[in-house]
Amino acid sequence: MERVRAARYALTGPPPDVVACGEILLPPPGPDEVRVRMICAPVNPADLNMLEGKYGEARPLPDTPGNEGLGEVTATGDGVDASLVGRRVLVGSEAWRARGNWSVADLIVVPPGLDDRQACMLRVNPPTAWILLHRFADLDRGAWVAQNAATSGVGRAVIEIAKARGWKTFNMVRRPEAAAGLQALGADVVAVDGPEFAEQSRVLLSGARPQLGLNAVGGASATRLAALLADGSPLVTYGAMSREALKVPNGFLIFRDLVFRGFWLTRWWRGAAAAERAEVYAAVFRLAAAGAFAPRVAAEFPLEEVKDAVAASGLDGKVLLRLGD
Ligand SMILES: NC(=O)c1ccc[n+]([C@@H]2O[C@H](COP(=O)([O-])OP(=O)(O)OC[C@H]3O[C@@H](n4cnc5c(N)ncnc54)[C@H](OP(=O)(O)O)[C@@H]3O)[C@@H](O)[C@H]2O)c1
Repeated sequence: MERVRAARYALTGPPPDVVACGEILLPPPGPDEVRVRMICAPVNPADLNMLEGKYGEARPLPDTPGNEGLGEVTATGDGVDASLVGRRVLVGSEAWRARGNWSVADLIVVPPGLDDRQACMLRVNPPTAWILLHRFADLDRGAWVAQNAATSGVGRAVIEIAKARGWKTFNMVRRPEAAAGLQALGADVVAVDGPEFAEQSRVLLSGARPQLGLNAVGGASATRLAALLADGSPLVTYGAMSREALKVPNGFLIFRDLVFRGFWLTRWWRGAAAAERAEVYAAVFRLAAAGAFAPRVAAEFPLEEVKDAVAASGLDGKVLLRLGD
């Protein structure tokens, strides 16, 4: 057994109160496992929800948080191809630690050439954006997609993927100053969510009706987003940043036949065939290699300062944890 530094939490509650850097004992990698030396990981909203005890699925405690992160394979257990040693991989659980063992089936091998800070954020948000855009509507070239939380990691990936596919994006933001950055990424329209939104959006869309809505906010923002959509279109809810419930006017169902769907990457990962997973991540890595999904890092903290890292998240850009020894 080896002693390894790891973020730990034994209770759920306010993230800076419940998480701390500690130590765990690590056995050698077992059959079908690899040993990974971790490099870096983002602090995502899902990590905070997990620490707060407000995530969709609870894990047994005490636990190590971190729904995604990048590391390098340093050893392999029985039954694992030894040529994986030296390859960088994305882990999908317990990422906030210096080293760990993961089942090889749960890892994604990263192609060479991508920046560490870019790569560590490719397991969750860009594939979510890719699936949201490809699995819920059959969009012709030039079709419009509307989304809220457009400044988020997922929202920015939606803009970049849609641009690459020839789809147009209508993007709702809370902060007017965010518009220029999103337009530089390829956003077609950026509108500030709020009281004047309905009038403004009609003008900006000049009669076009989006055929897909992507909702990561909930509450009144989701209602305003759904109101934009063409009759019969899906509104896919994948996040709830406002923590407010969806409010669906009856007429959206009766007269407009809008379709309310949901998406959770974890459920998709568990149910997807290997070929489907490979298709999604190949598309993500191809776009990343072409310059998409550039890392926007607001602050970096060593693992020892994990309390400060979770307290700092919510900035414009991701907070990153540096994990290596
Ligand atoms: N279902 C899935 O499989 C899945 C996968 C990935 C992500 N997600 C979810 O997608 C959402 C975005 O994740 P991310 O990592 O992309 O986010 P992120 O990069 O950390 O950005 C957070 C976003 O939320 C906005 N926001 C924060 N508080 C808000 C509030 N009270 N009301 C409205 N907007 C608010 C921020 O706007 P400002 O820029 O104005 O601060 C920003 O756009 C989260 O809810 C996350 O859990 C779900």
